[in-house]
Amino acid sequence: MSEAAGSPRATDEDAGQPLLPPLTLGPITVETPVVLAPMAGITNTAFRRLCRDYGGGLYVNEMVTARALVERRPESLRIIKHEPDEVPRSVQLYSVDPVTTGHAVRMLVEEDRADHIDLNFGCPVPKVTRKGGGSALPWKIRLFESIVSTAVREASRNNIPVTVKMRKGIDEDHLTYIEAGKVARDAGVAAVALHGRTARQHYSGQADWSAIKTLRDSLPDIPVLGNGDIWSAEDAVRMVKETGVDGVVVGRGCQGRPWLFGDLQAAFEGRDARHRPGVSTVCQTLLRHAQMLIPYFDGDEHKAMQDIRKHVAWYFKGYPVGSQLRTQLVTVETMAQLEELLGQLDQSIGYPGDAAEGPRGRAGSPKKVHLPEDWLASQELNEDQREMIKAAEVDTSGG
Ligand SMILES: Cc1cc2nc3c(=O)[nH]c(=O)nc-3n(C[C@H](O)[C@H](O)[C@H](O)COP(=O)(O)O)c2cc1C
Repeated sequence: MSEAAGSPRATDEDAGQPLLPPLTLGPITVETPVVLAPMAGITNTAFRRLCRDYGGGLYVNEMVTARALVERRPESLRIIKHEPDEVPRSVQLYSVDPVTTGHAVRMLVEEDRADHIDLNFGCPVPKVTRKGGGSALPWKIRLFESIVSTAVREASRNNIPVTVKMRKGIDEDHLTYIEAGKVARDAGVAAVALHGRTARQHYSGQADWSAIKTLRDSLPDIPVLGNGDIWSAEDAVRMVKETGVDGVVVGRGCQGRPWLFGDLQAAFEGRDARHRPGVSTVCQTLLRHAQMLIPYFDGDEHKAMQDIRKHVAWYFKGYPVGSQLRTQLVTVETMAQLEELLGQLDQSIGYPGDAAEGPRGRAGSPKKVHLPEDWLASQELNEDQREMIKAAEVDTSGG
């Protein structure tokens, strides 16, 4: 698969010992308690296939908007596709109203399209929070309760576990995670995942793992998963040790690095094997990724090439690839051209070390959170907000 080399263990006495027991989500047992974070535009069947080839875990698809799903829009049906060998089939729903949530979950259950459903309450993008959705929603705690309990009720018809993924809150003055965690638990979710940032932080600064520990301690009776700034297997081990979580959720750290799931599995099994791919493995993986995107986009090679472009910088982070070649790769038009461009690289170049490690993907600075008028005035919906919620669901991309 790719070059592997040793790296220091967390501690010597941990060698050979599993770090955690398997993660139990209702009837599902996830042997390696690692979750691929849902990432819109990234975690499609092609990328999940690459990750799954390296290690165990739960691989969540890109978020799908409940309303778009119920309306059977082709893009939504594409998003919830799974390969025949993908078990469990995990779908993330975004919704702002209980009725549409109920219809979407019922559709997934009755048509046997999912084994696990995650609800997105973490998205910070303005187009979503402006309508009261994503990370803005748990503030309206009764609306949150109603969405979660509707999803749990509909999913329970087929014993399908529902989980919730959320942020700390809107900002430091409007933290919601503990109350929302308890409400979700009481509504019957199988687990709660916390990204240790507020909406205001977006992707800036560092994820607050102490909040993850606080949530873990506040919810002793259900699994709590920690999310934010896991860039290596060592980070995952550290998060487990510092917070006591039952599993980790990994997003940006695996962009351009599906082999991270191999490292994570090894670390969770107490082994010190780590992938250290050279240029040749990276090129082969990038090509395979691009190839698998073609059937994902129903044979549309152009769409597949447009999609693969965003992965190029992640795959080659830290590798000596000249700026001219990088520019050509991010404007690639065909599979043949991609092969030709990658063929120009010296395939004997090895792993560049630290330059390929560390943060990758979205970062930036804190951002004003765009909210509906008077949203923060009360945790209850006012009449205008209730009307807006009814009409609010937008077809949107995640975050
Ligand atoms: C490109 C991108 C798309 C994302 N899309 C979603 C999404 O659809 N649903 C969701 O709950 N979170 C989404 N997120 C947030 C991630 O799931 C995760 O919570 C966040 O990146 C923090 O984890 P990390 O530090 O491991 O990246 C997205 C993040 C990125 C970078």
